[in-house]
Amino acid sequence: MKAVIPAAGLGTRFLPATKSQPKEMLPLVDKPSIQYVVEECSKAGIDDILIITGRGKRAIEDHFDRSFELEENLDAKGKEDLKSQIEDIADLVDIHYIRQKKALGLGHAIMRSKKHVGAEDFCVLLGDDIVFGKNPAIGQLIDLNKRMGGSVIAVQRFPKDQISNYGVIDGKQIGKGVHNICDLIEKPSPEAAPTDLGIIGRYLLEPEIFDYLEKTPKGKGAEIQLTDAMKLHCFNSDYHGLEFEGIRYDLGDKLDFVKATVEVALSHHQVGEAFYSYLKALDIESARRRLS
Ligand code: G1P
Repeated sequence: MKAVIPAAGLGTRFLPATKSQPKEMLPLVDKPSIQYVVEECSKAGIDDILIITGRGKRAIEDHFDRSFELEENLDAKGKEDLKSQIEDIADLVDIHYIRQKKALGLGHAIMRSKKHVGAEDFCVLLGDDIVFGKNPAIGQLIDLNKRMGGSVIAVQRFPKDQISNYGVIDGKQIGKGVHNICDLIEKPSPEAAPTDLGIIGRYLLEPEIFDYLEKTPKGKGAEIQLTDAMKLHCFNSDYHGLEFEGIRYDLGDKLDFVKATVEVALSHHQVGEAFYSYLKALDIESARRRLS
């Protein structure tokens, strides 16, 4: 199966850090966030990825390419471990790139992948959403598609005051964590939200979605929304919502970014133990006062 990762966003929420580097390259400890998403694909057996980039995103392409100069340098210094890590990144999966020339929304970005995807089901992973857990989230969607067919969307329950940040599904629960979707709304007001089930950035879509994307008018934010196209499509095709297992962080949100960093740091093979001891001994009150 192929996967599409839209990575054309400007990253304005992380300025100034993203002024001259893509937000997808911001690291959680020592690994750029987009590498977690690529590794999730690889763990789920996906070996062909199309990354939709935009202006100023060259660093992403370089990151997943071989870097002979760096490899030679690490070789000469006897840093075998680091060298093989660097090589592994390049060998993870086949990655292709296409540019979204104008930022006209998620739906518009996905439309750019039509030729590459062809006539098969495909996955979409949003780089801002990162999911930690035993089984890759996208793999859980693929498993459900194998069992029940149709399109599958990852969903999570959100409190009322947060639901309007998400696409929201309406439907009926038909099994453990599985919902039959009958409608979708992009970022409704809390009052208009039909359920508390918000969409997070993992989708398994059928190729027919492209026909609907082409018919979808501009929606929220004057952008072509994937949720609006799925809404039209779901009236004619099976859509399932899956409450996946794992914990999701929104790396587009500063607080979530810090939380994800803490989680990664705590289980990091080099600094995990030391960071755990540091946190346990940390005098939060004086740390807070130092820089404020
Ligand atoms: C996008 C989608 C939205 C979804 C969200 C998940 O919104 O449009 O339906 O719930 O991703 O993170 P964005 O966060 O890009 O505004």
